[in-house]
Amino acid sequence: RRGQTPDGPLAGARVLVSAGGTREPLDPVRFLGNRSSGKQGVAIAAAARDAGAEVTLVAAHLETPVPAGVEVVHAGTAEQLRRACVRAAARADVVVMAAAVADYRPARVADAKLKKAEDGSAPVLELVRNPDVLRELVDLRNTARRRQLLVGFAAETGDAETDPLTFGRRKLARKGCDLLAVNHVGENLVFGQDTTTLTVLSAAGGPEQVLEGPKDEVARGLVQRIAQELAAVRG
Ligand code: CTP
Ligand code: CA
Repeated sequence: RRGQTPDGPLAGARVLVSAGGTREPLDPVRFLGNRSSGKQGVAIAAAARDAGAEVTLVAAHLETPVPAGVEVVHAGTAEQLRRACVRAAARADVVVMAAAVADYRPARVADAKLKKAEDGSAPVLELVRNPDVLRELVDLRNTARRRQLLVGFAAETGDAETDPLTFGRRKLARKGCDLLAVNHVGENLVFGQDTTTLTVLSAAGGPEQVLEGPKDEVARGLVQRIAQELAAVRG
């Protein structure tokens, strides 16, 4: 495989990366989606490959080319992504959930394109919760007592009272993953951009690490940190 270094820090490791954003259909032509381009996740997949890992990329509507030398599994919706991730995670040493997974989906998907109401009224969309894939992977890992490193991403804007990192620390505790990479998001911040700022939080109490710069550089930094944490998990 191109780019693989047999003696890299992740040599022999299997890494699953999810990237992009899921789309939840309303009818054959419409969906609820998000602004994730998949650039950060794809950069992580490429960095893990370069570190010697065997990489599976679960890709949801990427707006960026897939890297060479990684196995790609396409997933459109949260449910499809859940299935692909559960399958690939069974043999993964590391899982990085960089995908923006829709929290909700329309309760019903129309078979035919929806038409406007003749009386001029607007519809009210009923939504249902999607499964939390990362939580499920944490539960599966813990039940199987697998030595697996689970890395979540949190896109946080913060609000009037709470800064993004405080939300991130709460989320790390709630999710039960080992690392949480927190970045600030907003209209023109992070999404689709080539540069990013990311703070890595560790459940085991390791240092909070700030990675800043082009997404591929940040990805290499995160992969380095992952390799260190994986060595600790494996003992
Ligand atoms: N995630 C997931 N399945 C979902 C939602 C999120 O696996 N249904 C994963 C994301 O891939 C990410 C992490 O969980 O790695 C955090 O996603 P985020 O949307 O920040 O967290 P949520 O738990 O959905 O919390 P919030 O209410 O802030 O959206
Ligand atoms: Ca969410």
